[in-house]
Amino acid sequence: MLQKINETADFLKSKITTMPRTGIILGTGLGNLVSQITDSKEIPYQTIPNFPVSTVEGHSGKLIFGKLGGVDVLAMQGRFHYYEGYDMKAVTFPVRVMKAIGIDNLLVSNASGGVNPDFEIGDLMLITDHINLFPEHPLRGKNYDELGPRFPDMSEAYSKELIEKAKKIALQNNIKVVEGVYVGTTGPTFETQAEYRYFRTIGGDAVGMSTVPEVIVANHAGMRCFGISIVTDLGVPGKIVEVSHEEVQVIGNKVQPLMTFLMKELVQDM
Ligand code: HPA
Repeated sequence: MLQKINETADFLKSKITTMPRTGIILGTGLGNLVSQITDSKEIPYQTIPNFPVSTVEGHSGKLIFGKLGGVDVLAMQGRFHYYEGYDMKAVTFPVRVMKAIGIDNLLVSNASGGVNPDFEIGDLMLITDHINLFPEHPLRGKNYDELGPRFPDMSEAYSKELIEKAKKIALQNNIKVVEGVYVGTTGPTFETQAEYRYFRTIGGDAVGMSTVPEVIVANHAGMRCFGISIVTDLGVPGKIVEVSHEEVQVIGNKVQPLMTFLMKELVQDM
């Protein structure tokens, strides 16, 4: 694994002249932020050694190096989901590579189903914490001490400082944000009504099929994490309607300019 990480990191370093400290993982259909990146250099996943190739609809699958609000960033358009069949080492491989090229802040975005009855469709949820319900842990197996500790602390998996900064930016710009706990589960089914109730009962505010593995590995690697979830549907009793991938994308599309704005301001404030 170490050899693969270094090989991929060396390949990417040979392609770029920038030194990004911030990595951004964009969720399904949430690639709008890419249009704000200037001086960009795009590298399709299929040209990157050891990189898995993304398959799901709505993902174009590329790395974009460039500047967001004048700050060097590396954005990942399209992530690798567990439900696509990748194992957890593949799902989280890009985070390892990010760390190896010098990135120590990770910003992630995703779409989710809200289970907090106060939420509305289209809300931007700042992720304050998560609950890992994936059946495979990305750190299971041999621990490489070079990458991080055997038993990593997760008491502040999402940086309080970055959450506070984001809240301030939102307030100053009249953007509504909510805060909450993201429950990560495998999918690819959306939830039954009983499952939505269960996720609420165990302490969740929103549920989705990504993010948790990447944030676990980023914490293992000592990176500072921040996450925004776009609530694209509601799994709330009385408000549950049929969900589809297309609807998730339609709502995501509507809200993503606000998310892009928040991310851009935040990157400049880090
Ligand atoms: N459940 C799981 N993942 C999701 C949902 C949902 O309701 N909406 C968007 N991603």
